[in-house]
Amino acid sequence: MIKQNLEIVEYLEIEGGIPLRGTVEISGAKNAALPNMAATLLTDEEIILENMPNLLDVKTMKDLLSFVGFSIEKLSEKTFSFKQKTINSLVAPYELVSKMRASILVLGPMLSRFKHAKVALPGGCSIGTRPVDLHLSALEKMGADIKVEHGYIIAKAPNGLKGAHINFEKITVTGTENIMMAAVLAEGETVITNAAREPEVVDLAKMLKKMGAKIEGEGTSTIYIKGVKKLHGTKHRIIPDRIEAGTFAVLSALFDGNITIKNYPLEYLEFVNKRLEEIGVYVIPIGKDEIAIKRKKKLKPVDIETKEYPYFPTDLQAQFMTLLSVVDGVSSITENIFENRFMHVPELERLGADIKVKDKTAYIRGVKKLTGAEVKATDLRASAAMVIAGLIAEGTTRIYDIYHLDRGYENIDEKLKKLGAKLRRDMIERTL
Ligand code: EPZ
Repeated sequence: MIKQNLEIVEYLEIEGGIPLRGTVEISGAKNAALPNMAATLLTDEEIILENMPNLLDVKTMKDLLSFVGFSIEKLSEKTFSFKQKTINSLVAPYELVSKMRASILVLGPMLSRFKHAKVALPGGCSIGTRPVDLHLSALEKMGADIKVEHGYIIAKAPNGLKGAHINFEKITVTGTENIMMAAVLAEGETVITNAAREPEVVDLAKMLKKMGAKIEGEGTSTIYIKGVKKLHGTKHRIIPDRIEAGTFAVLSALFDGNITIKNYPLEYLEFVNKRLEEIGVYVIPIGKDEIAIKRKKKLKPVDIETKEYPYFPTDLQAQFMTLLSVVDGVSSITENIFENRFMHVPELERLGADIKVKDKTAYIRGVKKLTGAEVKATDLRASAAMVIAGLIAEGTTRIYDIYHLDRGYENIDEKLKKLGAKLRRDMIERTL
């Protein structure tokens, strides 16, 4: 008898076509919380982070900091205190890094404060190989001795890091964040050119400056950092998640604008709001940090190219593909950031979408409606695109490998149920 390997797979089952309405509140940004938490390594004083999102990735980063020797205390629902207790180890072990690539963010702060770090080389993920070569070459330029052995990055800077001019040949978000955190305690000045301009990079700089760091130019392509001897504790509030916000704007547009959104960071979504307007969807401020969505009856096809901030974010590409899959006419989406971020295309096709991929561009011919099917989530943002598709499809949709969703969307089931969605989770045994 051939022994078959079985695995337990969790799925989310969605009853499609039910009209959704109500108000949803955007949580703190995952991609701000992760670097902000890594920055707590830069001081032995207490750091308090507010508006923390309750996400799998945030839990993984907490586990990583506890492993190093930090105590993490929950002060209230979304407020946590981070304080160095003892330094047990300057290692980011494989079992944690393999769950979350962003663990690489502890490398810069560990190296600049403790002059030594051992971080498992983050694997790729389904959207691409996701190398960290730019992080490592920049740290070497700052005087670190970097070796990669047995799947680990071993970084040493016994005499401390030295400021340098770091020019990133490719714009890298966590690369910029890692070097900023390396430079704040380095000797002398560091200039980062071709730096990432994302709001999460700016937010990290704000937090570091509250800790006593000397940084200028954050949010532009050139960031200047003057190293200081020591950083002190601070309190910092995590910014709202612009990707979760954009995801719900797409959902609202597909339900006739019957969903309003609280904590919608208008200033981080200017380019996205412009593309929504071209489609015929309008983001209307209705109060402090709250928006309503209005939409034309007939939406128009558009051509979208993903690019680094402040242009169209790759993290909203899949969600917009779901929207455009039911917009009459032919739209196109070109993915310029990651080499393999179209895995949701065959899954959307199972739901009845009509999409053809040629090189880096997906051509989407709108169909009247999507119909329920069994699909799988392929990456964090694609899983959100599948949920949106399941909510508008006729009939039932089951999304397997749903753990991707919980990495980046806080309490998504509750938020959707509050809007009237009918969904449930269950598990099945699947032969490998
Ligand atoms: C950040 O990833 C985000 N993650 C990603 O969000 C986001 O998709 C991405 O930026 C692009 O906006 C966090 O902030 C935690 P990059 P990051 O370095 O920093 C190449 C999500 O869904 N590159 O800006 O890893 C890389 O392969 C996640 O929340 C190198 O070649 O992305 C990619 O093609 C998904 N060498 C491009 O640069 C390097 O050393 C941009 O990557 C680093 C990056």
